[in-house]
Amino acid sequence: MKYRFATTFSIVIALTIGFTIWAFAEPAMPKADPDALWTYITKVSPYDKWQFWPDHQGMQPGRAPHGPFHKVYVNNRAFHSSNAPVQFGSIEVKENYGKDKKLKVVTVMYKVKGYNPDDGDWFWVKYSPDGKAAKFGKPKGCVGCHGTRAANDFILVHEFK
Ligand code: HEC
Repeated sequence: MKYRFATTFSIVIALTIGFTIWAFAEPAMPKADPDALWTYITKVSPYDKWQFWPDHQGMQPGRAPHGPFHKVYVNNRAFHSSNAPVQFGSIEVKENYGKDKKLKVVTVMYKVKGYNPDDGDWFWVKYSPDGKAAKFGKPKGCVGCHGTRAANDFILVHEFK
C-alpha cells in the first residue's frame, strides 16, 4: 500500500513539474522554411502583437524596392538585443504598403544559427499578404542591398550604437 502511494505521488509531482515547464517555455522556434515561419508569425506568435523599434514606430515612409509605406514589427529577441549582431531567434516582419496604404507584400528577416554564417545568418522571405512565399532563403538581392549595413547586422531601419 505504502509503495503504491509513493509511486502515485511521484508521478503526480513529475507531471506537475513537466506541465509547469511546458506552460512557461517559449514556443519552439520554426525551422528556416517559409511555411513554418509564416505559421509561426501569424498563429504561434502573431507579429501584430509584437513591438516596434523605439526609433521606428508605426507606419513610416519607405524607399525602393520595398514601396512607399511600411511598418516593421520585431519580436522580443530582436527588441531586447541592444547590440549588433542581434540574438539568434530574432525576427523582423516588414509590412509593405502601396500609395493607397493597402498591404502589398510582407518581407521577413529571421536570424537562424548556422543558416548562412557568411552573411549574418539571416533567412529572408518575401510573402504575398496571404502567406505565399515569392522568394526565400539567401536571395542575392536581399543579402546584397542589406549587406551594405553588415556592421549594423543587415538591419536598415534601426541603428545599434
Ligand atoms: C535595393 C535595396 C534593397 C533590397 C534589394 C532589399 N531591401 Fe529590404 N530594405 C531596404 C531598405 C532601404 C529598408 C529600410 C526601409 C525602407 O525604406 O523601406 C529595408 C528594410 C527591410 C526590412 C526591415 C528591417 C530592416 O532591415 O531594417 C526587412 C525585414 C527587409 N527589408 C527584408 C527584405 C527582403 C526579404 C528582401 C529580399 C526579398 C529585401 N529586403 C531586399 C532595402 C532593400
